Amino acid sequence: MKYFIGNWKMFGVPGSINILDKINLFNLRDRNRKKYKVIITPPYTLLETFAKNFKSKKILIGSQNCYHKDLYSSNTAAISPYMIKKVGAKLTLIGHSDNRSEGDTDKILKDKVFFALKNNLKIVFCIGENKKQKKNNQTLKVLHKQLTQVLEKRFNRNNIIVAYEPIWSIGTGKIPNQEELLKTILHIKKILRKIFGKRIPSIIYGGSVDETNVQKFRKINEINGFLIGGASKSSKKFIDIIKNYYR
Ligand code: PGA
Repeated sequence: MKYFIGNWKMFGVPGSINILDKINLFNLRDRNRKKYKVIITPPYTLLETFAKNFKSKKILIGSQNCYHKDLYSSNTAAISPYMIKKVGAKLTLIGHSDNRSEGDTDKILKDKVFFALKNNLKIVFCIGENKKQKKNNQTLKVLHKQLTQVLEKRFNRNNIIVAYEPIWSIGTGKIPNQEELLKTILHIKKILRKIFGKRIPSIIYGGSVDETNVQKFRKINEINGFLIGGASKSSKKFIDIIKNYYR
């Protein structure tokens, strides 16, 4: 199964649902029945409307984050996994570098993962090194810590997708070369095997994926899809990413 996840970040108003209509039409017309899933993570304000409109399962709707508590609590502006699930979302991103840089520690992330899974949300757990860490050859060490401090064997690996998103690549137009990407993905697999045993969560890639470079990732079979930021805001670009990947 390949995942094409559009992370809208802080973009979109109710009218933006037209974009999803186009993606949905494209999905319906796809006669090849390729095994892929389209997921969109809009801002919280659009979760319910989008989830209601796309119940057909052609497009799944997820949130970009969740609070690290279960049900309700007196935390202003916080939104719990329970509330996200109740409006029809099926998954949530956790640990995006935007949120890590705003204070999400490993401890907080572990609670988020725990409560999201408890509320039957799938999670996309984001990891990745920054520019300085890459320059100092710390990538593998950083990823090891990010994974082992948060994920545990007791978590259901079927409901977890790990997104490798090098921070230096997000929004910059830079992508890792194939050799280094393969090495990193194999390293992630090794760590996941240590945590989960033989059967491990899917691994996807994120960072400046667009319709022109997506084919470059095809050679790496271990990559089960993409987390797409900037290019997911245009239905044309987003559809072209899927088309070009399978071309
Ligand atoms: P990008 O963002 O595709 O714009 O680099 C990816 C992400 O932040 O998830």
